[in-house]
Amino acid sequence: MPNAESLEVLYSEEVIAERIRVLGAEITQNYQGKELILVCVLKGAFPFLADLCRAIDMDVRIEFLGVSSYGAGTKSTGVVRITQDLAHPIKDKHVLLIEDIVDTGLTLRYILDNLTTRNPSSIGICTLLDKPANRRVEVEVDYSGFTIPDHFVIGYGMDLAESYRNLPYIGYFPPETLGND
Ligand code: PRP
Repeated sequence: MPNAESLEVLYSEEVIAERIRVLGAEITQNYQGKELILVCVLKGAFPFLADLCRAIDMDVRIEFLGVSSYGAGTKSTGVVRITQDLAHPIKDKHVLLIEDIVDTGLTLRYILDNLTTRNPSSIGICTLLDKPANRRVEVEVDYSGFTIPDHFVIGYGMDLAESYRNLPYIGYFPPETLGND
């Protein structure tokens, strides 16, 4: 585990909060009059969901979907697993997937294919971070907080071997501090 002193801050608490206010306003405007379900992709998206849902000024439902693909390393294994399914049907509802980060796109591709079979009215994607440099499959992101360079980011829900999720900001360890995984 690298030393926390080598952590570089990418987005502060204040910058994240301001961006989420804007995203919340856009989502409120675009889903007016519709039944919207926010599906939080666990675990990483839980702080984003908590802040974003309070920036949306209309009634929404909240669901959680547990998915994992990274294990303890910093690279996607490419094998996506559902670890906790939705509690309610999404048929004829508008679904907005809430993600912390889109990297290879494999996780969202898997989720989209899975949820589409349940016949929702629509499925949108809202991610706090988008890392297009690593994309392996195409996914259409509808709302994106920040487009980031190819860093392994942690904090604000994102982990390194399950640590650092509770940092209130987003940062990264320079590659030379990470070693091999
Ligand atoms: C992370 C993140 C996304 C996914 C993105 O989840 O939360 O769901 O990876 O990567 P991809 O675009 O390359 O598929 P992770 O598997 O680390 O699980 P976690 O959220 O529980 O940490």
